[in-house]
Amino acid sequence: MCGIVGVIGNRNATDILMQGLEKLEYRGYDSAGIFVTNEAGKSKLVKSVGRIEDLRDKLGIDVSGTAGIGHTRWATHGKPSVENAHPHTSASERFVLVHNGVIENFREIQAEYLSTDDFKGQTDTEIAVHLIGKFVEEDGLSVLEAFKKALSIIEGSYAFALMDTENPDMIYVAKNKSPLLIGLGEGYNMVCSDAMAMIRETSEFMEIHDKELVLVTKDNIAITDYQGNPINRASYTAELDLSDIGKGTYPFYMLKEIDEQPTVMRKLITTYANEDGSMKVAPEIVKAVQEADRIYVIAAGTSYNAGFGAKMMLEALTQTPVELGVASEWGYGMPLLSKKPFFIFLSQSGETADSRQVLVKVNELGLPSLTVTNVPGSTLSREATYTMLIGAGPEIAVASTKAYTGQIATLAFLAKAVGEADGLQAAYDFDLVKELSLVAQSIEATLSEKEMIAELVKKLLLETRNAFYIGRKQDYFVSMEASLKLKEISYVQCEGFAAGELKHGTISLIEKGVPVIALLSDPTVAAHTRGNIMEVVARGASTIVIAEESVSKPEDDIIVSNVHPYLSAISMVIPTQIIAYETSMQRGLDVDKPRNLAKAVTVE
Ligand code: G6P
Repeated sequence: MCGIVGVIGNRNATDILMQGLEKLEYRGYDSAGIFVTNEAGKSKLVKSVGRIEDLRDKLGIDVSGTAGIGHTRWATHGKPSVENAHPHTSASERFVLVHNGVIENFREIQAEYLSTDDFKGQTDTEIAVHLIGKFVEEDGLSVLEAFKKALSIIEGSYAFALMDTENPDMIYVAKNKSPLLIGLGEGYNMVCSDAMAMIRETSEFMEIHDKELVLVTKDNIAITDYQGNPINRASYTAELDLSDIGKGTYPFYMLKEIDEQPTVMRKLITTYANEDGSMKVAPEIVKAVQEADRIYVIAAGTSYNAGFGAKMMLEALTQTPVELGVASEWGYGMPLLSKKPFFIFLSQSGETADSRQVLVKVNELGLPSLTVTNVPGSTLSREATYTMLIGAGPEIAVASTKAYTGQIATLAFLAKAVGEADGLQAAYDFDLVKELSLVAQSIEATLSEKEMIAELVKKLLLETRNAFYIGRKQDYFVSMEASLKLKEISYVQCEGFAAGELKHGTISLIEKGVPVIALLSDPTVAAHTRGNIMEVVARGASTIVIAEESVSKPEDDIIVSNVHPYLSAISMVIPTQIIAYETSMQRGLDVDKPRNLAKAVTVE
């Protein structure tokens, strides 16, 4: 979490930092700050609680410079406050540091080295910059030696950008586990948590790997390992489209991203299918999955739910059991694995620290893995054996929509390719190109019902504190994602429940007016779910029934057009995305940046 940006050698440093922070706000937005310095050595540090616009209001007109570092925060140590906002300074205020990550041994460092220091806030970062300051000012080390010594002591995750107010023509950079990239400009250089935030200035980037130290000046990048051995690294050009990261005519990113889903489906068809309908999935990936006796899908949040959405299809088409693993649990306790496991990491951002720690273990075990992600060149993509891109275009709203549907569709191409390679009739019979086109149409039809859905929300969800989604089989998995979406952006406490399980305890929470939203797409269980709807109605619940046409009744509230059962997790989730969006809007909440959340969670 948290976003870092730094620039050196550009007259518009303040502007670049502020623009960069705006693009990084999805990583955290409870406070922010920048440090800028000019050629005459005059510098300024400005910090603010709240959004980047609040920081902008505090800047004033005299904050200009040629170099600086900035930070947007998602609080881990210490509440959101000006004192805890980054950049942090050393005891003498000579050194200025921004940090993304968690320093696990900060208390020990404080006790051993800094017991007499006073601190302004409660962050682990302030300890780190005091430590560097102490090594320089009390122990007489050079800044580089001090930084290195601090890095040898600090344990945990970090992306650091450090400046020395007495020698402001260099940014000292290091990273471990947390993402950080160099951006190369004409006569200036940058450092940033992601490429998107630098794309206005440059399209040329250089990776930094874990435990590398980088000295960034306006015309040079020097990378070494922590022992000081130089590392040569070629830069690369990223083809990112600046227009992709705008809202266009939309009031909110989330609405734009919901609406983009038919396009994402059609784009995936051209990415992963040939014109004759055969699959265009890399043969080495297909082979690796064919060789597996079990597929382990590891993910967090919405991506975890997408794994469930794809499970039935993956199993049916590959005839291989699929097990889901929640990343934050598997990192600490890997269950007994099968003899030939294959790991699939699902991650919109490709940066989720919880998923990455599982991947690190998988790599240590020498096991094959595939990352399905929306972000080319992301950490999980670089470190897995294989990558399949969703290609959904940047997803900026914190609540994920098009990445969920894109992930399931991408896995459909993989599943069909593996099934066909295995000669399975079910895979040949599944005309994915046709079926996904129908999904795109189904999404469009549901999107045209936004106003009607808004009315339902007004009637049932505007005031409530809690709600339930219920469904069976595939619809149960969708109900998990549907309830997560509602929780995330409307703060309604919502649970996704297996419809038949509700009566085994949780039905005690049903009372007059509690909204229960039922999902029905599967004819084999629709009647049973309707029975469960009757049970909650009998206890006073207010219901919304979302039914696929194939199982619908005239009195149902939202009808979703028919799609292949393997893909119903895509079509059935669309009305629930609109429900969440509308509930948030009608409650006057910040749809794109809900409280307490961040888009890319880069701490464990
Ligand atoms: C955060 C976001 C969620 C997201 C999850 C996993 O918690 O707020 O929306 O689903 O991370 O992110 P990933 O990028 O790995 O899909």
